[in-house]
Amino acid sequence: MATILENHSADPMMPVPFRVQRLRQDTYDTFTLELQPANGVRKFAFAAGQFNMLYVFGVGEVPISISGDPAKPQTLVHTTRAVGVVTKAMRKLQRGGMVGVRGPFGTHWPVAEALGSDVVIVAGGIGLAPLRPALYALLARREKYGKVVLLYGARTPEDILYRRELERWRARLDLEVYVTVDRAAGNWRGNVGVVTTLIPKAPFDPRSAVAMVCGPEIMMRFTMLELQKRGVATENIFLSMERNMKCAVGFCGHCQFGPAFICKDGPVFRYDQIKELFAKREI
Ligand SMILES: Cc1cc2nc3c(=O)[nH]c(=O)nc-3n(C[C@H](O)[C@H](O)[C@H](O)COP(=O)(O)OP(=O)(O)OC[C@H]3O[C@@H](n4cnc5c(N)ncnc54)[C@H](O)[C@@H]3O)c2cc1C
Ligand code: FES
Repeated sequence: MATILENHSADPMMPVPFRVQRLRQDTYDTFTLELQPANGVRKFAFAAGQFNMLYVFGVGEVPISISGDPAKPQTLVHTTRAVGVVTKAMRKLQRGGMVGVRGPFGTHWPVAEALGSDVVIVAGGIGLAPLRPALYALLARREKYGKVVLLYGARTPEDILYRRELERWRARLDLEVYVTVDRAAGNWRGNVGVVTTLIPKAPFDPRSAVAMVCGPEIMMRFTMLELQKRGVATENIFLSMERNMKCAVGFCGHCQFGPAFICKDGPVFRYDQIKELFAKREI
């Protein structure tokens, strides 16, 4: 899968300055940054599934998937969960604040390869963010695909990302959206249970479906099993992996996953190509 490098610094190790246009709090611990180039870069071309290294000046750099629309390269969008030093500092940025951006890096979701097939997207928690660009791309050429199904699981109703957008997607007649939570609270009237419980009854044809999966590793393990039980071929299942990164260009070995590097051979992998590694708890 090709990496798209365009309009950016010629040196992949050199961050390009971007300015915060908007910071939206999505949930109590998750926020979305909209960034615009500070140095005359006009657009930021990327493919659905790719990620950037975001540098909070004076604090550090973290890999974050691009969660915006690949057809709108004027604004760079990232959705991040504040878990530690860098992501918590990022959450404190204000409109006009600066972020260094390196990228885009990595492989992408097989949106073009899935033309003519049913597509099932399985997202857990923040895993919906890297899959959102794939959904935009699928919906932009909706007539070229069979059924398109989104199965999304969050821990609690408060953890559900992109609520308004999910409602808009749910209202569409050409997209099947199922949302579930692990634990219900308040006035939640939807599904309760882990996201894998949605797979047996989801309306797609397993003989031809292409599956795109992102979420915590434990969720992905069980998702792979359920998809295979349902009859989806391993070569039609794709997943996005996370590992700590430093260089993001295959030099430092920080993201090594067996013989592969997540930064350049992933983060999106075809399941049959990493099946043996994925079964191991620690690599
Ligand atoms: C290819 C790739 C794409 C990614 N895309 C996204 C994305 O779109 N949005 C996003 O929010 N994150 C994403 N991540 C994860 C993100 O890079 C990490 O959460 C981030 O590096 C944490 O940095 P920190 O300095 O804030 O935390 P650190 O200070 O490094 O960690 C603080 C604590 O948080 C824990 N921690 C670290 N990461 C996570 C995590 N992901 N979940 C739970 N606990 C964690 C650590 O174990 C540690 O205990 C991606 C990672 C990769 C490799
Ligand atoms: S992050 Fe350095 S090799 Fe992948």
